[in-house]
Amino acid sequence: MTEAGQGHLSLPDSGRSLTPEPCTLVIFGGSGDLARRKLVPALYNLFLDGTLPSNFAVLGIGRKSLSDEDFRAGTREGIIAYSRQRLADQPWAEFERHLFYLSGGIEDPQSYEAIKTRLEKIEAEHSLPGHRLFYLAIPPASYASACEGLQRAGLVRPPDHAGPFCRVIVEKPIGRDLESARQINALVGRVFDESQIFRIDHYLGKETVQNIMVLRFANSIFEPIWNHKYIDHVQITVSEAEGVGTRAAYYEGTGALRDMVQNHLLQLLCLVAMEPPYSLDPDVVRNARIDVLRSLRPIAGKGVERFTVRAQYSSGKFPGPRRLLLHPINEFLVRGQYQQDKDRGVEVPGYRHEPGVPPDSTTETYVAIKLFLENWRWAGVPFYLRTGKAMAKRATEVAVQFKDIPQILFNANPAAPQAPNVLTLRIQPEEGMSLRIISKVPGTKAQTNPVEMNFRYGDAFGAPSPEAYERLLLDVMAGDASLFMRRDAVEASWAWITPILNGWGTYGTKWLPEYSAGSWGPVEADRLIQNDGREWRTL
Ligand code: BG6
Repeated sequence: MTEAGQGHLSLPDSGRSLTPEPCTLVIFGGSGDLARRKLVPALYNLFLDGTLPSNFAVLGIGRKSLSDEDFRAGTREGIIAYSRQRLADQPWAEFERHLFYLSGGIEDPQSYEAIKTRLEKIEAEHSLPGHRLFYLAIPPASYASACEGLQRAGLVRPPDHAGPFCRVIVEKPIGRDLESARQINALVGRVFDESQIFRIDHYLGKETVQNIMVLRFANSIFEPIWNHKYIDHVQITVSEAEGVGTRAAYYEGTGALRDMVQNHLLQLLCLVAMEPPYSLDPDVVRNARIDVLRSLRPIAGKGVERFTVRAQYSSGKFPGPRRLLLHPINEFLVRGQYQQDKDRGVEVPGYRHEPGVPPDSTTETYVAIKLFLENWRWAGVPFYLRTGKAMAKRATEVAVQFKDIPQILFNANPAAPQAPNVLTLRIQPEEGMSLRIISKVPGTKAQTNPVEMNFRYGDAFGAPSPEAYERLLLDVMAGDASLFMRRDAVEASWAWITPILNGWGTYGTKWLPEYSAGSWGPVEADRLIQNDGREWRTL
C-alpha cells in the first residue's frame, strides 16, 4: 500500500467509512484452538450484534476428519465456553447454517482442489460474491504449503483484479528472530501482495488499546505535556495470572520476550510514544507507529544484562481463587489442573514441573526491560516494560508518571515527598483510566493527600466492549489495515528484539532468576527500576 492511501478510514468508530463485505472465511486450522476459542465465537458475537455482512460463510479446513455437523457441534461448545455473549438457540440455528468443514492436509496438494470446489459450491448455494479471506491459524512451518497450495489451485487473485477480493490473515508467531521473520514475510509475500496481507496482533484490536490514540489526539490537554519535559517515566505492564497451562508445546522454546514483548508490549509502546499522525489513513498511522520502533535505542552486548531481566516462575500459591476466576477463559481452573482450595488459595507448580515442560527448561516466563527512545520527544525518558505468566494478578496497564514538583510549598519536606501525578490507562480488566492528583485533606490543617480521578468504561458506556478478534475480523472484511502489522513493522520489532535474544543466548542457563508463582516477579526486576530511584507500580 502506498502512503497516499485511500482517504480517511477507520479507527474508533468516528469516520469509519468502509463496510464489511459479504465473504467466505476459510480457516486453515479450522478444528484448532484459535478457531474454537476466538475466531468463531467472535463471528458469532458479530452476528448477534448485527454487524456481520448479511451474507457470509465459514469454511474450516483441518486434518481431523469431521462432517459439517461435527464442526458445528464443536463450534457450539466453543461458543458456550468462550463467547462474550451467551449462546441462544434461535440465533445459533441461523448462524450454524453458515458453517462448513472440509478435512484435508495442508501439505497435500489435492486439498486445494477440494477447497476450490467446495468454495465454489458454498458461494453458489449462498449467493456469495466470491470475496475470500484465508486465515492461517496454523504453525508458520506450514505457511509455505498453504500459500503455494492456494496459488497453484488458482485461489489467489491479484489485488488489482477487478473481481472479488482475496486476502490472507497471518497469526503470530511471525518468526523467532529477524531472519526467520524475514523468511516468513518473504514466502507469504511471494504469493500475496502486501495490501492483501493482514498480520494480526490482537492487542491492537482491544478497545482500550485503540483508545490510547483517541485519548492522546482527541483531547487537547494531554499532547502539550506528553514529552520529556513533563514525563518522568512510563511503565507498561502486562501481567497474567495464568501459568503456561496446556500450551507448553508452543511456549517452551518461545518464552515471554517472543510471545509478548516483540508484539503486544512494543505495540502498546508505539501507541503511547508515537507522533500525532496527520490522518487516520491506515498507512499514515502505521508509519507513525513504526517510527517509534525505529527510534528504539538498541540493547545489545553488555547492555542486555544492564537493561533486561528474564526469569522463570517457581512453584507458588495464589492468595485465593477468586481473582483468577475473573478471567473469562480461566482454562486451568476449569480443567482442574491446579489444586484449589477456597481458603488456602491455588497451588501452582513451577514452570519446569508444568505438563510438557522439560525439567531443565531455560525458557523465560517473565521479562522486564528498561528502554529509551532516541528522539526529541522522549530524550532521556525511561520506559519500563514488564510481562510475566503466573503473576499475582491479571492486569494490563500503561502508567505515565509525571515529574516531581519542586520541593517547596506542599512538597517542602524531603522526608515525606508528595506522590507524583500518574495517568494510568487500564487496558484490562476494569478497563478505564485514572489520574492521580494531590488534593487538600478537608480540615483546618494544610494537609495533602493523593486522590484518584477515575473513569471506567463500564460505567461511562454501559455496553461491554467487543473482543479484539471481533473488531479485527470485521476490519479484514472491510479491507481496513490500520490495526494490522505491516511487514516493515514486524521486521523492525524483531531487529530490536534479536540482539536481546542473542545476549541471553550468550549468558546461557547461568542467568535465569526465579520468581514464585503468584508474586510480582523476581527481585532482579525490582533492582532494575530501584537502581534508578523508582518503583514498579503495585497493581
Ligand atoms: C497471546 C500469547 O498472544 O496473548 C499468550 O501467546 C498470552 O501467551 C495472550 O496469554 C494474552 O492475551 P490477552 O488478550 O489475554 O491479554
